[in-house]
Amino acid sequence: MLARVCDTVEVNPRDRAMTHEELLAAVRGRDGLLCLLTDTIDREILDAGRDLKGIANYAVGYDNIDIAAARELGIGVTNTPGVLTDATADMAWTLLMACARRIVASDPFVRSGRFEGWAPMLFVGADVTRRTLGIVGAGRIGTAVARRSVGFSMRVLYADPVAHPELEHAVGAVRVALETLLRESDFISLHVLLTTETRHLMGPAQFAMMKPTAILINTSRGPVIDEAALAVALREGKIAGAGLDVYENEPEVHPELLNCPNAVLAPHTGSATTETRTKMATMAAENLIAMLEGRTPPDLVT
Ligand code: DGY
Repeated sequence: MLARVCDTVEVNPRDRAMTHEELLAAVRGRDGLLCLLTDTIDREILDAGRDLKGIANYAVGYDNIDIAAARELGIGVTNTPGVLTDATADMAWTLLMACARRIVASDPFVRSGRFEGWAPMLFVGADVTRRTLGIVGAGRIGTAVARRSVGFSMRVLYADPVAHPELEHAVGAVRVALETLLRESDFISLHVLLTTETRHLMGPAQFAMMKPTAILINTSRGPVIDEAALAVALREGKIAGAGLDVYENEPEVHPELLNCPNAVLAPHTGSATTETRTKMATMAAENLIAMLEGRTPPDLVT
């Protein structure tokens, strides 16, 4: 798509994210940039790329880009909302079910020949049906996660700065304060943007409010959770489990978390289905082409 409208399209030839220096050199004098969430587009990169007519981020989250600096420099930024909602909501449920029914530990148990027959207490887990699901952040993905709970007859609580009457109507969700959600939910799924307000939204005080049987799911952004505090909460049984797709210092994972048998860990693959990644790529290219052609792109963030 890009090659049809651009004289030159340069693609990062390395099978890894570019370094800051490589990015600095790559953006100088370019008209457009299509980047990944692993590319940190800070003020220095934006200064070097002041000729850019636009930046298309291949992700719905855009915390990797200094939006204020882009705005000051008049560089448009776009994201890929909507197309990854279902895939990411499915991933939240995948992690939730895997934690509740201890599937990740069960699989190597069977493969290694340790399964010696049915036993009353073998890999006993938690019920999901008729339990309480807490949604923190009731945007597109949070709402899609809540909608999937209907088949499990769950009570749904949500915490969000604004009310979502359509969610309340669709699944009978009740808007409550975060503290109430933390105290009353059996499963808590995080769906907030990463901002200065949501960084470490979940820390020692929040884990202390949760039920010791509760399971925490995060498919949003890693720094929303204080990872060191989560490892302590899991180790000390303050909460029962965690299903994580994102990490505070990706790709690093807190070493203590790696040793927690009650954590299920995925490598930031919430949107990783062939269909979704194709739609994200198409959307990013459409947005970039619009900016290169001087049109308002469909998914302008700033
Ligand atoms: C996003 O788009 O923000 C996800 O984290 C990756 O698809």
